[in-house]
This record gives sequence, structure tokens and C-alpha cells, in this order.
Amino acid sequence: MPPPSATSQQGSKQSHPVIHPIVKFGDNGLARKAEPVTEFDGKLNRLLDEMFESMYAASGVGLAAPQIGISRCMAVIDITFGKNPDAKIVIINPEIIAVEGQQKEEEGCLSLPGVRETVKRPQKVTVRAQDRKGKQFTMQGEELLARAFCHETDHLNGKLFLSHLSVLKRDLIQRKIRKMIKAGEW
Ligand code: NI
Repeated sequence: MPPPSATSQQGSKQSHPVIHPIVKFGDNGLARKAEPVTEFDGKLNRLLDEMFESMYAASGVGLAAPQIGISRCMAVIDITFGKNPDAKIVIINPEIIAVEGQQKEEEGCLSLPGVRETVKRPQKVTVRAQDRKGKQFTMQGEELLARAFCHETDHLNGKLFLSHLSVLKRDLIQRKIRKMIKAGEW
């Protein structure tokens, strides 16, 4: 998920970050339910670090594994763009267990570049997930963080934010993208 405004942000820097290309709408993997993560090993840890670097490189605040072509139930979130190392959140096999209130804000997706629409989301969201060691935790987020929890969990269920729009609006956007795909502009 990109930030609320289109401003360019600086991500964190590592000496040799591995940046994965982000797949876009039209890729079948984005429409598929991701497989649960069962192995919490060094390979998983490296992949999560690469997901953070890939997200920062794309100036995003959230990235789900299917967006880099990996059908696994995990996502990384950092609503501070790498400015605060303590704000890095890993959610593995997440489940939204409580929601409260409502917010209506513009939302985008790194897999839908250039598309931003107003999406209704809960104001407060409690997520239950596992961390990179496999330890279960629950965490509550408000506003942008609540939105990120919903958006990234949707990705792991094969859903994009387009699914929250009216059929009319969704069809319009999908038609426009299909035209762009045909023209080789997507
Ligand atoms: Ni997204």
C-alpha cells in the first residue's frame, strides 16, 4: 500500500538490499489465497528483510508476499517509511479479530500504480498474527495502520482494494487497465 499522499519518501538503506519487482493487477497470484507460513527459519527472515527493502524502494507503507510473486501468508508494514526502526511490523498468517468504527480515505496499492480511490475501512482494527519467530501476538492499529492491516490481509486472501468499490467504479478501472495491458502500457 502506498502512502496517503503522492509525496516521495526516503526508505531505509542497507549495503546490498535485494529488491524484488512488484507484480501488478493482472497477475494471477494476486487473485489467489496465499498458503500459510509454517517454517520460521533463516530463509523466511531474509525474505522478510527483502520485502521491507522492496517496499521502501517503492515508497510504500505495506507489502504482501503475493505482490512479489510469493504465495505465502505474510506481509510487512511500516507507516513511517523506515524512519523509525521500531515501527517495522511483520504479520504472518494474520487474522483480523476485531474492528471498530469507520474511516473513509483515499487508498492505493503498489500493484495498482496510479489508481487511488476512497475506500471505507474500520477506524480501529485488531490483528492476530505470528511474528518472524512464529510467536503469536495481537496488535491494535488506528487510522492508517488499521487501513494497512485490512489492505494487506485482503492481499493474502486474494483481494485487492478494488473489491471494496462499487461494481460500476471497479469495472471502469478494470476496463481502463485491460486497455493499458493491451497497449503494453501497464
Ligand atoms: Ni496493495
